[in-house]
Amino acid sequence: MTGVNEIRSAFLDYFNKNGHEVVESGPLVPRNDPTLMFANAGMNQFKNVFTGLEKRDYSRAVTSQKCVRAGGKHNDLDNVGYTARHHTFFEMLGNFSFGDYFKELAIELAWTLVTKEFGLSKDRLLVTVYAEDDQAFDLWKKIAGLSEDRIIRIATSDNFWSMGDTGPCGPCSEIFYDHGDHIWGGPPGSPEEDGDRFIEIWNLVFMQYEQTEAERLDLPRPSIDTGMGIERIAAVMQGVHNNYDIDLFKALISASENATGVDAEGAALASHRVIADHLRSSSFLIADGVLPSNEGRGYVLRRIMRRGMRHAHLLGAADPLMHKLVPALVREMGRAYPELVRAEDLIAETLKLEETRFRKTLERGLGLLDGATADLSAGGQLDGETAFKLYDTYGFPLDLTQDALRARDISVDVDGFGAAMERQKAEARAAWSGSGGAATETVWFALKEKHGATDFLGYETETAEGVVAGLVADDAETDGLAAGQSGFVILNQTPFYGESGGQVGDTGLMIAPGVRVKVTNTQKKADGLFVHSVTVEEGELKAGLALELKVDHARRTAIRSNHSATHLVHEALREVLGTHVAQKGSLVSPERLRFDFSHQKPMDDAELATVETFANEIILQNAPVETRLMAVDDAIEAGAMALFGEKYGEEVRVVSMGTALHGDKAGKPYSLELCGGTHVRRTGDIGLVKIVSEGAVAAGVRRVEALTGSEARAYLDAQDKRMRDIAGLLKTGADEAPARIAQLVEERKRLEKELADARKKLAMGGGEAGAAPVKEVGGFKVMARTVEGINPKDLKGMADEAKAQLGSGVVVLINVAEDGKAAIVTAVTKDLTDKVSAVDLVRIGSEALGGRGGGGRPDMAQAGGPDGAKADAAVSAIEAHLGGL
Ligand code: ALA
Repeated sequence: MTGVNEIRSAFLDYFNKNGHEVVESGPLVPRNDPTLMFANAGMNQFKNVFTGLEKRDYSRAVTSQKCVRAGGKHNDLDNVGYTARHHTFFEMLGNFSFGDYFKELAIELAWTLVTKEFGLSKDRLLVTVYAEDDQAFDLWKKIAGLSEDRIIRIATSDNFWSMGDTGPCGPCSEIFYDHGDHIWGGPPGSPEEDGDRFIEIWNLVFMQYEQTEAERLDLPRPSIDTGMGIERIAAVMQGVHNNYDIDLFKALISASENATGVDAEGAALASHRVIADHLRSSSFLIADGVLPSNEGRGYVLRRIMRRGMRHAHLLGAADPLMHKLVPALVREMGRAYPELVRAEDLIAETLKLEETRFRKTLERGLGLLDGATADLSAGGQLDGETAFKLYDTYGFPLDLTQDALRARDISVDVDGFGAAMERQKAEARAAWSGSGGAATETVWFALKEKHGATDFLGYETETAEGVVAGLVADDAETDGLAAGQSGFVILNQTPFYGESGGQVGDTGLMIAPGVRVKVTNTQKKADGLFVHSVTVEEGELKAGLALELKVDHARRTAIRSNHSATHLVHEALREVLGTHVAQKGSLVSPERLRFDFSHQKPMDDAELATVETFANEIILQNAPVETRLMAVDDAIEAGAMALFGEKYGEEVRVVSMGTALHGDKAGKPYSLELCGGTHVRRTGDIGLVKIVSEGAVAAGVRRVEALTGSEARAYLDAQDKRMRDIAGLLKTGADEAPARIAQLVEERKRLEKELADARKKLAMGGGEAGAAPVKEVGGFKVMARTVEGINPKDLKGMADEAKAQLGSGVVVLINVAEDGKAAIVTAVTKDLTDKVSAVDLVRIGSEALGGRGGGGRPDMAQAGGPDGAKADAAVSAIEAHLGGL
């Protein structure tokens, strides 16, 4: 039982048998701490449990916690590779009591584990206690039976542990292992304590206090936090002195030896160790959502990666190396940390991309470095300007330059480097203020300068803690926002997505004791600053305040769904309509998605239905949605869809979904797009996509709108209800409704026709009222009739019929419509047109009806008039005219 994996299991099992809940490691990017860059101790995830802020349903826990100490308060990066025990990544085994047991049982459990379970000889062990902690001193004597000279009192902060400047803390007691007198060094507290003989293997912290910015408070109940670096205990148990000689590192170093063909000895040894260590931290960081960038956590990752990559180059590796070692790491650690297995491809690709890119400048940068230091000897110093040029032009992080000169004992003028950096920033500032932005834009730029880009945590989490870095109200920076006030907040880190790429900004809450703030929108400004629009509902918001941040989960979930569905609809449109389809605009909101694309003509129903079917096929695949980081050129070459004319950084996030089912792409990734948005985990999370409209936006640009998930369901529910209402009205089943409606429409047409015919007949005297009256006026046979409800189009035909009936004479037909308006047709048989004109008659009639004009030919004319009530008067006027001829 001495392999790292066995030791880890033994530790977890032992404490589990002793009533401890086995809890998974917290993520490397802490969610519950606003200031920690990376998890650096097992207790991080329990911080609020110690202080009583958070309750769990267990009071004892055991973990194996992933830790990174590179950046932030604890930074071991510079030493890695050159010492026996420094790592950028390590695992901390720990047991915890939250107000349950305290010193006595903690000491007893620890002592039994190391001496009985792990079988370490008591003679090799000694402990330290905090100088004033008599109780711990006595307990060690009683429980371990250690002689007093092996219980060493330490008065310094070495035996008072705190996570950072604030947080839970307390005196501690450390267990040391004596590696033997063949190694130089003295026991803790002695002048030789810095030697390597006596090595701390386990730190037991008696958590008693909470350090706030102002004071040290008692914790609600005394608690226990312990930490044992697994690499150290493994070294002890495997009888080696150097952590890099344990089984885990041997496996990684041997993979590195195989890949480079260089044995791990002599000068190459440090390089292999650096590579093995940096492979672990890089891989675990990537698995926890950190990707290389030039800011914040991403830059720490980049520094680690590039430092490892320089060592790969040093070993003579002709091609990118680190990504080839990922399988070995997954083999060693994947069982304990399944996130490594899940992210294996992403890790390998990210490492390969970074190394490929960095190698392009590495060689030239090293050439410059050699030239600049050719005349320097040990103890010399590289000027800051050159170090900055290496940073700025060749992508050499400062610590990489320092590391490269370390073997020759040459240092770097760090102040000069800082000055060069400052000068460049000042130039950028001057160039920017020259461009004359609006007042608030200037504020954002200044804030970005002061605080750097906001670290966005929202790909991985919707809740986190953050510290207020700056506040803005009325276009200017301000110290505070009081209850009732609205303004803008900048945080050091945030899970709130800032509006971009068509996706709307997140909303939600920010909370601290006595403070409650509503977030109504989030936007991105000044290249990476996340600006939260807020209204303070309670308390006061001040710079420096730590806040609990909660994105509106339901809203974000709907947004994710709509964003992922947008990608699927985009691809489905290309599949159905052709690859001329390109994105012209998009809006991803919680309610719906809107997608504008190039296409010349309206889509028909069949096309829309197929697009919908194709998109839903991928949803049903329930395929994982994968994000990777790629060089923009590679991404486009791989077929990833990009927005034409959009400005992308050198590296881009590429989101892929599903497997294509038809056509040339069958079997290949379905959707592949450059995208910085937030997406569902699996396509099945979308539930369903339903296109609800299609139309034109501009020449050659169409727009579809679609719904997903519960919005789509609500839409279909409403449609279904309408269908059932219709069926109810028709007194039939929904299935028969369309046929029934078609039948009713047919029937209605027939009835309308019948009705029109009947009316005509009636008008022409065919009805019961007898024949149409024919009068003799001025020697003309006159048939005049006022009718209702006749289609005006039919009047002329009716007049023709009347003429036929008369043989010779004059016809006047006036139809009064429902709205009271009249239409008049006059007709004169051919034999009479030289005596009387239908046009004259219709004018006279129309005038009487309040209208004017009218027109036609001598044998048939028509007109209208607003006043149908005057129909009789019109007939009389015409008759009077005829009588006077
Ligand atoms: N939290 C303690 C440490 O990190 C156990 O050493």
